[in-house]
Amino acid sequence: MSHHLYVISTFIHIIAACIWLGGMIFLILAFIPGIKNHPDKIDLIASVSLKFRPAGSVVLALLLITGIYQLEIRGVQWTWAYFTGSFFGKVAGLKILVFIGIVLISVFHDYYLGNLAIKAWKLNPEHASTQKLRNISRMMGRIGFLLAVLAAFLGVLMVRGW
Ligand code: HEM
Repeated sequence: MSHHLYVISTFIHIIAACIWLGGMIFLILAFIPGIKNHPDKIDLIASVSLKFRPAGSVVLALLLITGIYQLEIRGVQWTWAYFTGSFFGKVAGLKILVFIGIVLISVFHDYYLGNLAIKAWKLNPEHASTQKLRNISRMMGRIGFLLAVLAAFLGVLMVRGW
């Protein structure tokens, strides 16, 4: 039974990773460039981002729950020695840190900075402070994306080694 659960958990983990990364890749490659010259660009970005936010939170929670379950199945010990003593432990520890970074960046980006940038953009699109907020938002989004790619790579390293 526990093997069935392990397989289901890994399946959910991989689908959740696909949704998290796929959502961002769709925004970067298709949505944002596709509405580049649209007159309602700001409203479109704001409402599409807000629509994805709950799904994003659910998949991040699923990644954490299934990830911890998979570590338990693999015999994790929540000690410093475990996370520094073997290749698997080190990669797992790094992955957890990267995950914490992803959560912090997305909370900051989605709930604070993004809102601020959209408001400023609507009120005063050409102002230097608006451009600055937009640049910081964009940079945060990019870092979050790169961290998610890194998390997926660390996942593969954990299972398959280097
Ligand atoms: C954005 C965050 C994450 C992404 C994109 C991600 C991605 C992945 C992927 C793609 C795999 C499959 C690797 C393979 O089969 O070769 C994997 C496996 C794994 N991940 Fe994650 N993961 C994330 C977060 C987490 C977290 C937070 C944990 C632990 C708390 C975790 C623990 C694991 C474990 C233990 C495996 C191995 C599963 C197995 O035994 O087959 N992951 N991850």
